[in-house]
Amino acid sequence: MSDSALMAVYNRAPLTVSHGQGAWLYDTEGRAYLDCVAGIATDALGHAHPALVAALTEQAGKLWHVSNIFRIPGQEGLAQRLTNATFADVVFFGNSGSEAIECAIKTARRFHHANGQPERIDVIGFAGSFHGRTYAAINASGNPSYLEGFGPRLPGYVQLSLDDEAGIAETLARPTTAALIVEPVQGEGGARALSEDWLRRVRDLCTQHGVLLIYDEVQSGMGRTGQLFAHQWFDGVEPDIMAVAKALGGGFPVGACLATRDAAKGMVVGVHGSTFGGNPLAMAVAIAAFDAIAKPEMLAHARTISDLLKGKLEALAESFPDVIVDVRGKGMLIGLKLIPNNRDFMALAREHGLLVAGGGENCVRLLPPLILNAGEATEAVLRLEAACRTARTRLARAA
Ligand SMILES: Cc1ncc(COP(=O)(O)O)c(C=O)c1O
Repeated sequence: MSDSALMAVYNRAPLTVSHGQGAWLYDTEGRAYLDCVAGIATDALGHAHPALVAALTEQAGKLWHVSNIFRIPGQEGLAQRLTNATFADVVFFGNSGSEAIECAIKTARRFHHANGQPERIDVIGFAGSFHGRTYAAINASGNPSYLEGFGPRLPGYVQLSLDDEAGIAETLARPTTAALIVEPVQGEGGARALSEDWLRRVRDLCTQHGVLLIYDEVQSGMGRTGQLFAHQWFDGVEPDIMAVAKALGGGFPVGACLATRDAAKGMVVGVHGSTFGGNPLAMAVAIAAFDAIAKPEMLAHARTISDLLKGKLEALAESFPDVIVDVRGKGMLIGLKLIPNNRDFMALAREHGLLVAGGGENCVRLLPPLILNAGEATEAVLRLEAACRTARTRLARAA
């Protein structure tokens, strides 16, 4: 047993980061790493972005925190930006993705309560999904291992498979169904992008049955796929409620639950709240992050670089079919499904100065900052190629 004073809930890589600049991280021994993890899709503008540093330092000298019992102009400013850019009319600010999910599920149930249908509590979630670590989030998530040892599954959650068309249609028609929650691009599950057809069919069925559609864009949102939000690649598939976090603060903890005014009708005074959510410091940084990420040039850059990466990665997979069996995902949320163990491959990539994240179905994920330039994208693939070569040698030796 470890003698660390920390709860042993993380399997940490043997790497201590001292500082970062742009798409690069430097360890305490001065070694440089190309960062294709970006705090797991969080540091969308890379490290030490000047606009974020300026926003943080300026606000830090003025006001950090006051409480939501007072008006916070930064919340109005960020909510206005988010609602102008999306389907939503109203926003609640929290501090994390899990809190955004909590708010989304509470908003959905309160909607039906306000409509005089309190029996509508069931939330449909999907195999392979990840929505966070609170009780609501682990019950909505599609990975039973997150629930193990935490007592019985909560009532009001239904798990389905993404390809179970009949099951989805049947469950949406039930009188107890409140909401359906889905990631337009699954992140932790292994970078799986849903098709336009899937999203449209589910949107239409939700509308038909009065079920609220919740998108979890905690990982896929804020420019990650080359649109501000992944579902915006397609017309007419907007949700009723959406959870956003991660890159929303560019690395500063902030989350948001967005909703239409109608879907949020049950969220009245006193039913929800947060001490820290939306405090002036978080809002100042998140506004600066939003203004940089939502720029058309930044989204266009993310599309250009992700196309470049995709082409190079597909070529790499062709050269190493014994290592990479699939290249998937959308935009800068890229998954490589591997034959060697993904954890071993992450360590190998690290040896070659490249940081990648793990994912379901034995994937590694590339989640670089959106500011990654073409030279860095090429360098990332060269380092991956070197890792593939070592993996091939080791696999051959083990055979
Ligand atoms: C899709 C998705 N939803 C929710 C969460 C939970 O966010 P947080 O860790 O900020 O609570 C995550 C975190 O990885 C996520 O990827």
